[in-house]
Amino acid sequence: MCGIVGYVGYRDCTDVLVSALTKLEYRGYDSAGIAVFENGKIAVAKTQGRLSDLTNKMETEGKPHGHAGIGHTRWATHGEPSDINSHPHSGRRVTIVHNGIIENYKQLKQFLIDNERDEFLSDTDTEVVAQLLDFYYDGNPIRCIRKTLHELRGSFALGIIFSDRPETVYAVRCESPLIVAQGQGEVFIASDVPAVIKYTKDYYLLEQEEIAVLKNGAVQFCSLHGRMLEKELLTADWDEDSAEKGGYPHYMLKEIHEQPTAVKTTITPRIEDGLPNLSECGITVDSLRSFRHIFIVACGTAMHAGMVGKYVMEKLARVSVTVDIASEFRYRDPLLTENDLVIIISQSGETADSKAALNLAKKRGAKTLAVVNVKGSSIAREADMVVYTHAGPEIAVASTKAYMVQLSVMYLIAFEMAFAKGKIDKETCRALTAELVSMPQVIDDTIHHVLDICQYISTRLISAESLLYIGRGLDYALSMEGSLKLKEISYIHSESYAAGELKHGTISLITDGMPVIAIATQNTLLEKTVSNIREVKARGAMTIVICDEKAEIGVDAADYLIRIPKINEMLMPMVATVPMQLLAYYTSVNKGNDVDKPRNLAKSVTVE
Ligand code: AGP
Repeated sequence: MCGIVGYVGYRDCTDVLVSALTKLEYRGYDSAGIAVFENGKIAVAKTQGRLSDLTNKMETEGKPHGHAGIGHTRWATHGEPSDINSHPHSGRRVTIVHNGIIENYKQLKQFLIDNERDEFLSDTDTEVVAQLLDFYYDGNPIRCIRKTLHELRGSFALGIIFSDRPETVYAVRCESPLIVAQGQGEVFIASDVPAVIKYTKDYYLLEQEEIAVLKNGAVQFCSLHGRMLEKELLTADWDEDSAEKGGYPHYMLKEIHEQPTAVKTTITPRIEDGLPNLSECGITVDSLRSFRHIFIVACGTAMHAGMVGKYVMEKLARVSVTVDIASEFRYRDPLLTENDLVIIISQSGETADSKAALNLAKKRGAKTLAVVNVKGSSIAREADMVVYTHAGPEIAVASTKAYMVQLSVMYLIAFEMAFAKGKIDKETCRALTAELVSMPQVIDDTIHHVLDICQYISTRLISAESLLYIGRGLDYALSMEGSLKLKEISYIHSESYAAGELKHGTISLITDGMPVIAIATQNTLLEKTVSNIREVKARGAMTIVICDEKAEIGVDAADYLIRIPKINEMLMPMVATVPMQLLAYYTSVNKGNDVDKPRNLAKSVTVE
């Protein structure tokens, strides 16, 4: 939601904090701020707006100089984006940056007011935490953090500095992610590894309620009760380049182009003798045979990957699969038993609702499997089994390569489960797996093949106020993702609809020139989909049809055709996704939007 950083070392702290925050702007970007120890005192610079607004402000008003401090980039939850609501927030002797949400901040605020602490300047929950820390601060930082944490409800990661503890940064987390990175004579905190990868690849994962004390370029860890802790030092297996744009104008375009490699890296280690083998992730053939019901639970794009997973698993493995939006699942009292498998899909592994769904599933005794991209993230650590998707860091808020690799994992699970249950024989499983192995090349060809036509068609979409994405079967599952992708970055209202359902109400929305994007890759359903396309075209819609190179679709149905390679129709989602992503991308570019950081959105939704 927000990004936090901290630094203690020999470099200019402001430069380090700003550079690290640049890499975290994907988490939030409606205000930014830093607090640095300057000549023994805490100097704060903060502003509403982007990080560039902060640097401009510091250029004109002067920037703090020092070697220890904390920084923040914000996605507003409590209080509008404004200078005063920007982090850092301070009490009398304590200054903090915060990522997350404090659920009981109103009660705590009242408690502070009742205790003659009514010096609140902002509308934020964070300022309440700063004041509470201050209230409990008796010269012992660990004791004050412990007492404060005892009072806080919610999810949070905090970077804390005390005015009488110069050159020292404290950090603590509960739910929200935080890492501590160790360089040569310098040490960092950050919400995510890419923030500091430029300086070091070595990092520690801060666990629940552990405190990190950064001082003299080194870190010490202790529990809330002050017990010293030894922690495992991890090394990131990617470098700065893989978190940079690499010549592309936007991360999103770069990430679309990275999909072939991401799929290859994800599936290759999970294939043995031509067959899927997920045993390394803790998934045994026996367990795959035994599940009564499968729940796939996720949010947004990850949930859409689950929709494809449902179609494929049900079709091949003949097991019933329910797909749930995590925020609904967690409150709908689902009928879970010990014989069920709950698959949680999440790029970040930190999405609050998905995490809560995982906890519920565990509490009810179901087996849990996480399909996660970020190594060591909460969901990955808490699930019984984990299949990592190896997409590398995904920076653009609009998910592309993470979705693609999630699809590839859905196929691996479906193939292995179908084979384990005896629903397909070895040869069929081998043939399907071989087709999956060929996907990186097909995806790469498709990107190059459809790029120009998508760029052109996007010029016809930019003036639309509203559009529909339609499809049947797997194409319907896919249309949900196409529609989400388009709306989140182009700001054009878009809905996805099962093509056969249109005439039950939604077709009344069709007006002259309204774009309807139809996905028609499922041969068995082609005729029916084409009739639905004709129905909307006859009512004035401008129809754009994504179909395979052989599909017979005439000008009576399609105003524009986007042809993609013809492969096994079950795997078509991995190909048809590409033009959907590019249509969204170019529409956003042509509208002059901030493609990688769409308004109101954050990359990682760590609050409910
Ligand atoms: C994707 O483009 C979205 N920005 C969003 O729907 C995202 O997929 C969702 O918030 C889930 O995130 P996660 O995969 O990190 O759990």
